[in-house]
Amino acid sequence: MSDRLVSPKMSEEEQAIEGSLRPRSLAEYIGQEKIKDNLSILLEAARRRNESVDHVLLYGPPGLGKTTLCNIIAVEMGVNLRTTSGPAIEHAGDLASILTALQSGEVLFIDEIHRLSRAVEERLYSAMEDFALDVMIGKGQSARALRLSLPPFTVVGATTRVGSLTAPLRDRFGAIYRMEYYETAALKQILTRSARILKVPANEEGIEEIAGRARGTPRIVNRLLKRVRDYAQVRADGIITREVAQAALDALEVDHIGLDQTDRNLLLTIIQKFDGGPVGLDTLAASTSEDSETIEDVYEPYLLQLGFIARTPRGRITTRLAYKHLGLDAPQGGNGLGPGLWQSVTPEKGDGGAV
Ligand SMILES: Nc1ncnc2c1ncn2[C@@H]1O[C@H](COP(=O)(O)OP(=O)(O)OP(=O)(O)O)[C@@H](O)[C@H]1O
Ligand SMILES: [Mg+2]
Repeated sequence: MSDRLVSPKMSEEEQAIEGSLRPRSLAEYIGQEKIKDNLSILLEAARRRNESVDHVLLYGPPGLGKTTLCNIIAVEMGVNLRTTSGPAIEHAGDLASILTALQSGEVLFIDEIHRLSRAVEERLYSAMEDFALDVMIGKGQSARALRLSLPPFTVVGATTRVGSLTAPLRDRFGAIYRMEYYETAALKQILTRSARILKVPANEEGIEEIAGRARGTPRIVNRLLKRVRDYAQVRADGIITREVAQAALDALEVDHIGLDQTDRNLLLTIIQKFDGGPVGLDTLAASTSEDSETIEDVYEPYLLQLGFIARTPRGRITTRLAYKHLGLDAPQGGNGLGPGLWQSVTPEKGDGGAV
């Protein structure tokens, strides 16, 4: 999975150059206009009142800029950022040591916040709500609860699955922002900026070609740029044009809307082995040798966004758009669920017309 070119997850190579491409201020952060508007009001208000920022929850598919945004919140507020993650906080005691080390106004970033254990999560409630931490002192008969007060601080939680968060935890966040896939125009801006930083010569059409194959995801846009740059240097004159980008990405088997072999395999499995579905997630995982969490968090969101697959109560189905994209004839009257189904399946957003 990690060597998959259009994986929205971060690779080690990316971690290394991460610093140079990552926007540092809200002004540099491209796209996500709604979130930026709301966030800038939230930050400005906190600044004027001289308070810590309300807790912020960011959710959405990987690679869309949640970590980046969290960094920006800390920078814009001029405070330190402490970073941890749901799985890293194993015991309530771990949480206590993190929280008691916080200084007033600091930002605590909890990545993958949906993976906190129940016990830790419950401690976090009162910490977020009252800036207080209940700890037990002593054991057995002589044990007693002690309430420590904490300085005001801001939790920024990030998750790819907001549905897995318990309602009480979700309720502790004063601001909840849903990250959207980026429009092509925003991706082009990101690419132009990255190309400038990396000193890669690219013309407008080359940029456009890469943007169109990047699955609405900044992390992927930056990765494709680097691979196309390699190709341009080795097989062309170093300049990224449309032809160069097309040739490079075709060679890497990323098709014109950004799907790769894994996506096509997923779609073909539903179509060929399960008659277009519905097929349950676990069954699909078993037949494609992928794990179901990866399908759900990584592959599926973009296919849903394109309107190539849909979720029904009985499982995943492929839509006509998927057949069309793969160059297959869609079965007449749907996929065994009756002719009405095709009409009732609409993409989550956009027109899926990228086909
Ligand atoms: N709005 C943006 N403008 C420019 N570049 C961006 C933007 N958002 C993200 N990026 C770039 O995309 C990369 C991925 O962003 P980031 O690591 O913040 O995503 P993420 O949502 O935290 O992903 P994950 O869910 O995997 O943790 C960053 O390194 C950054 O360079
Ligand atoms: Mg992240």
